[in-house]
Amino acid sequence: MVINIFILLLLLALGVSADQDAFVGVNIGTAVSDMPNPTQVAVLLKSQQLRHVRLYDADQGMLLALSGTGIQVTVTVPNQQLLAIAQSNTTASNWVSRNILPHVGTTNITAISVGNEFLTTNPNAASVLVSALKYIHSALISAKLDSQIKVSTTHSSSIILDSFPPSQAFFNRTLEPVMISLLEFLQSTDSYLMLNVYPYSDYIQSNGAIPLDYALFRPLPPEMEAIDANTLLHYTNVFDAVVDAAYFAMLYLNYTNIPIVVTESGWPSKGDSSEPDATLDNANTYNSNLIKHVLNNTGTPKHPGVATSTYIYELYNEDLKPGSESEKNWGLFDSDGRPVYVLNLMDSGSVLANDTTDRTYCVAKKDADKKMLQAALDWACGPGKVNCSVMLQGEPCYQPDTVVAHATYAFDAYYHQMAMADGTCNFNGVATVTTTNPSRDGCTFPGSGGSNGTINNGTSLVPSSNSTTSGGFSKLDSVSFFRLFGAFLWTVAFL
Ligand SMILES: *[C@@H]1O[C@H](CO)[C@@H](O)[C@H](O)[C@H]1NC(C)=O
Ligand SMILES: *[C@@H]1O[C@H](CO)[C@@H](O)[C@H](O)[C@H]1NC(C)=O
Ligand SMILES: *[C@@H]1O[C@H](CO)[C@@H](O)[C@H](O)[C@H]1NC(C)=O
Ligand SMILES: *[C@@H]1O[C@H](CO)[C@@H](O)[C@H](O)[C@H]1NC(C)=O
Ligand SMILES: *[C@@H]1O[C@H](CO)[C@@H](O)[C@H](O)[C@H]1NC(C)=O
Ligand SMILES: *[C@@H]1O[C@H](CO)[C@@H](O)[C@H](O)[C@H]1NC(C)=O
Ligand SMILES: *[C@@H]1O[C@H](CO)[C@@H](O)[C@H](O)[C@H]1NC(C)=O
Ligand SMILES: *[C@@H]1O[C@H](CO)[C@@H](O)[C@H](O)[C@H]1NC(C)=O
Ligand SMILES: *[C@@H]1O[C@H](CO)[C@@H](O)[C@H](O)[C@H]1NC(C)=O
Ligand SMILES: *[C@@H]1O[C@H](CO)[C@@H](O)[C@H](O)[C@H]1NC(C)=O
Repeated sequence: MVINIFILLLLLALGVSADQDAFVGVNIGTAVSDMPNPTQVAVLLKSQQLRHVRLYDADQGMLLALSGTGIQVTVTVPNQQLLAIAQSNTTASNWVSRNILPHVGTTNITAISVGNEFLTTNPNAASVLVSALKYIHSALISAKLDSQIKVSTTHSSSIILDSFPPSQAFFNRTLEPVMISLLEFLQSTDSYLMLNVYPYSDYIQSNGAIPLDYALFRPLPPEMEAIDANTLLHYTNVFDAVVDAAYFAMLYLNYTNIPIVVTESGWPSKGDSSEPDATLDNANTYNSNLIKHVLNNTGTPKHPGVATSTYIYELYNEDLKPGSESEKNWGLFDSDGRPVYVLNLMDSGSVLANDTTDRTYCVAKKDADKKMLQAALDWACGPGKVNCSVMLQGEPCYQPDTVVAHATYAFDAYYHQMAMADGTCNFNGVATVTTTNPSRDGCTFPGSGGSNGTINNGTSLVPSSNSTTSGGFSKLDSVSFFRLFGAFLWTVAFL
């Protein structure tokens, strides 16, 4: 009993409470030329065990498709509707009646973001933001939905200035009056701060001052870890530093008990020639490490163990997004539901996982040396103990009678026989893991669950071969590092 009270006091002293497990959700942007219909989206979400989604509107078709799934949904009041809502409680209550009430009891809407990065996209109208939140909240009270649906609004992390070191961070002073009334509202309604966190942008804007590994959650040598000299907290990744900067910016205004939910975070998998860090490998590393970090309930250095639930940006690649190539390539999936890359999520629980672990295949590299392929094929069908009789003449996997086709079958059989363990799809470098089902007419590959490969439902979360490339980064340029991080407040030990 005494111990329990002690823990309770400890949690109270912490302010932000640690009573919930963190979740990983996903954003669903729809600027996709062949956007899957809502039913297809819901099927994908279910197959990936995704239990939390955020929409950029309150699309009725999507909300209907999510009914009965138990998936928790954050909907958005689009910015262009916000002004009208901020000016009239009737407009606000009509919005709630039209968009929310029809789904009560069937679709689990748990939050409304009133606007999306409104303060940065509409700075001149900043002062009306909180009225809009209050009117929407009043309408929810009238409908007795205020306890199950939280009201908040998403922010770009660019409203937080001097984020490095985190303890020095504060909200842009121009926005301070708005932030104070917003935080007052969030606190009094038991809501949370919604923050979009993009270590990719911080890394790009730092011009090399931030090491790539620090942005990607890769281990840094201890002497490279950033230490906040005011708090002596050690930061091992940019994500935590940005989240803590937001906690400190709130603390600066004397708000200590408002939790943070990260409404967007991700990494682009492809970019144009000026975006060399937008790669499949980096996107995979970032999102895989982010998911592991969040689900481990690691919290941040300032609030260890406190959930930082996070929505990944984003479910689909949005090919219709304007801007550079990277803007179109933040997705985990193509519009046909094919994973863009194979997340590396071993041992991280169930999200984006189970259904999918049997959906990778091991295939022969097309350009591999034929002699090495033949040797690997012989090994697989011999010492490797793969039953290769299905490739004999007259059997279903005989055609096409090429070494690449036969090696692919044998490699895949071996890989699945070995439960897709790390390193079992290598064969001296002539094999590679893929998410595309190589099955063909009559010849069903191991791991395909009997399907013939035209649609691939799942992403497989098996390590993508030897993916931990840790190309060492060069020593920091101390001048630019200090310019960015604030020389005398934020120290890094150099060896
Ligand atoms: C909706 O989500 C909330 C929050 O986790 C949960 O407590 C509630 O049981 C869910 N309701 C339904 C109908 O699934
Ligand atoms: C809207 O505001 C007016 C006064 O400002 C108030 O009388 C009325 O009850 C409010 N309506 C709703 C639906 O909250
Ligand atoms: C602070 O916000 C104002 C208004 O949105 C903007 O004009 C200004 O550039 C911001 N300051 C910084 C340093 O970002
Ligand atoms: C925060 O609290 C301190 C101590 O109570 C006070 O001095 C300071 O003015 C407060 N800051 C704001 C922004 O209210
Ligand atoms: C998970 O959390 C524990 C402590 O709670 C920590 O020791 C461990 O390093 C964390 N693992 C990851 C992958 O973050
Ligand atoms: C996923 O798989 C793990 C281990 O196989 C299991 O413990 C967990 O319950 C599964 N999760 C779901 C949602 O099926
Ligand atoms: C190999 O598979 C065939 C069917 O494809 C089966 O008849 C045969 O018994 C298997 N051989 C061994 C050794 O399991
Ligand atoms: C994978 O790693 C193993 C040892 O860990 C190494 O022998 C093998 O060559 C690597 N394969 C590739 C494709 O890099
Ligand atoms: C693939 O499977 C689907 C349904 O399972 C079937 O309609 C289709 O004909 C199959 N295609 C081939 C090439 O076997
Ligand atoms: C895809 O997954 C859905 C739901 O899990 C299932 O109904 C469907 O049969 C799967 N399709 C294929 C081709 O595996």
